[in-house]
Amino acid sequence: MRISVEEAIKLFERDEVVAIPTETVYGLAAPLDSPSAIEKVFQLKNRPSSNPLIIHVKDKEECRKYLSSIPPDFDLLTDTFWPGPLTLVLPVKIELITKIARADLSTAAFRQPAHPVTLALLQKKSPLVAPSANISGKPSATRPEHIELDFGKEFPLVDGGRCTHGVESTILAFVEGQWHIAREGAISCETLGASLGYLPLAYDKKNKSPICPGQLFRHYAPKAHLLLSKEPSGSIIVGFSDRIYPEMKQLFSLGRSDNPEEVAFRLYDVLRALDAAQVEEAIVDIHMPHNDLWITILERLTRAANR
Ligand code: TXA
Ligand code: MG
Repeated sequence: MRISVEEAIKLFERDEVVAIPTETVYGLAAPLDSPSAIEKVFQLKNRPSSNPLIIHVKDKEECRKYLSSIPPDFDLLTDTFWPGPLTLVLPVKIELITKIARADLSTAAFRQPAHPVTLALLQKKSPLVAPSANISGKPSATRPEHIELDFGKEFPLVDGGRCTHGVESTILAFVEGQWHIAREGAISCETLGASLGYLPLAYDKKNKSPICPGQLFRHYAPKAHLLLSKEPSGSIIVGFSDRIYPEMKQLFSLGRSDNPEEVAFRLYDVLRALDAAQVEEAIVDIHMPHNDLWITILERLTRAANR
């Protein structure tokens, strides 16, 4: 059910959950000051309680109130990238943040989203916790219709149109004295590096448990079985509109192979379209550069193919 910002605020006052738009993907939002609404978010998504939520703040000053210390370059990062698709994992005053939102960790993840509708909402009710608005493990939602499919037509939803980035925020965490990329996302490592004056480190996923508990779980996967290939051939292809594929009968187009922004924008819609078309198996073209936003796209496709 499409509702207004004012109606969303009334529902939040009654400890209810509302789907909200962001510039990355839709979120399933609950007020940080309502543990019972946050509990509902976990139940609705079927999300493990060990996977903490991102706290969406109205500005960096609001975020600062929750912090037990301020890592270097906090101002630089927030002044440059907020509002926008950058999430920061920061040490917090645990007594100020309900345990359930941060999965009992001594850190929490924060971001100020850039979507105008949600920024207006946050001016009236903030902070809001919001994981991506999908059933855990499934592709994220980038259009209002995706929410209706996952949670039903009656589910309260603030319609903000199609999400412009189409992939989640990049998560940076200050660990062992350095900024690390904890999840690749809509802002590339190179872009962050250009502002910081050094590249944030990639966390050594092979040898350590991930910084984000969420990275341990299955993600972004359609029902269809995906086979990744650099030389794809087969009847059903997830690939690029400017390439020709041998034996192809049906293309699920990610857009042009020289336009990673377009590919990110379309990515989850394409993965969901496979299920809508009841595709059982598709070959995915992963012949793509290994830089910038392509790294995020490849990470999402790799996880989507993991069963
Ligand atoms: O773009 C986005 O970030 C979207 C929109 C709705 O804001 N949100 C999103 O939330 O992607 P979610 O819940 O799907 O992913 C949040 C990730 C999870 O992997 C979680 O483990 C991690 O953030 N996270 C949250 N708090 C953390 C913390 N204190 N330390 C490390 N990772 C944390
Ligand atoms: Mg998610």
